[in-house]
Amino acid sequence: MTVTETEVVLEAEGLTKHFPVRRGVRDLLSREHKVVHAVDDIKLTLRRGRVTALVGESGSGKSTVARLMAQLYGRTAGEIRLHGESITVRGGRKFRAYARRVQMIFQDPFASLNPTHTVRYHLTRALKIHGRAGDLEQNLRNLLDQVQLTPPERYLDKFPHELSGGQRQRVSIARALGADPEALLADEPVSMLDVSIRLGVLNLLRDLKERLNLAILYITHDIASARYFADETLVMYAGRLVEGGDSETVTQNPAHPYTQLLIDSAPDPDRLGELSRPEDQAGGEPPSLIAPPTGCRFHPRCVHAMPKCSTDLPPRFELPVQGHWAACWLYEEGAAK
Ligand SMILES: Nc1ncnc2c1ncn2[C@@H]1O[C@H](COP(=O)(O)OP(=O)(O)O)[C@@H](O)[C@H]1O
Ligand SMILES: [Mg+2]
Repeated sequence: MTVTETEVVLEAEGLTKHFPVRRGVRDLLSREHKVVHAVDDIKLTLRRGRVTALVGESGSGKSTVARLMAQLYGRTAGEIRLHGESITVRGGRKFRAYARRVQMIFQDPFASLNPTHTVRYHLTRALKIHGRAGDLEQNLRNLLDQVQLTPPERYLDKFPHELSGGQRQRVSIARALGADPEALLADEPVSMLDVSIRLGVLNLLRDLKERLNLAILYITHDIASARYFADETLVMYAGRLVEGGDSETVTQNPAHPYTQLLIDSAPDPDRLGELSRPEDQAGGEPPSLIAPPTGCRFHPRCVHAMPKCSTDLPPRFELPVQGHWAACWLYEEGAAK
């Protein structure tokens, strides 16, 4: 099956977020309004029954993309479409209606669960907020079954600190499923978990994707896990997408020099997650996002940089494999490779 075949759930186009920089006394005297260019001109499409990975090093803007897609942040520019319909919500009832269909899973399950409340409380609340309480006991059991916390009665009255990290993340996933969503935005859902249980949680998400026909955005700094888990992979650098395509092609045949650097510095995919920690960064330093490099943002670190790379922003160039593209001047027709 190609990437284009299933129904589109959620799309972003031109998605941009600039955060104002807190101004010091000196800045107050100048007329400049500095901003952090966290996310610029992102285009992405989430489809039913598909995992789309968003890969990039720490600080590249991945979480900001997830929060924009979840409508937790207002955007500076761009459009978000749910089933083709442009939608902007800021809090209130409209937000709740949106969140029923688009749920987020956070990196740190301990921080996202309230330590003073039990599993039962968290899941009941999610079901009630989204009007799905119905036969509450049965629905609670179903949610825990779905995330393979069985038998459910062993977990329902536990507090977050009584669970392992993996079990807590499963509760967070169950809570998200309480809304019966169409899309899950999973922001580094396994990067805080012990290596030995990461695969189990990814396999659970994959199983849920298939059984519930979910569209999943999988955010990670670990390109090896994208290859394992995602159908499509998008690579982000310093707030911009630089490459995309089916995961197999992007990881086996990376076109953008940044993707190549990520792959070269990634651990062996057969030992998924063993060496991968957020602090494992590709060589060189990511740029300042207050004054990002002109042209291609990667050019100061790029071994192939040409003069125009520092002046002109590269558009997406289509590559031979269908759906594979790179925003890199190396792929301009007639460019010397
Ligand atoms: N609320 C905020 N206010 C100001 N700057 C922010 C805020 N959130 C993120 N940033 C900045 O935006 C950039 C991208 O951050 P983030 O989206 O968290 O990246 P990632 O998830 O890839 O590590 C970083 O430079 C970060 O410091
Ligand atoms: Mg993040």
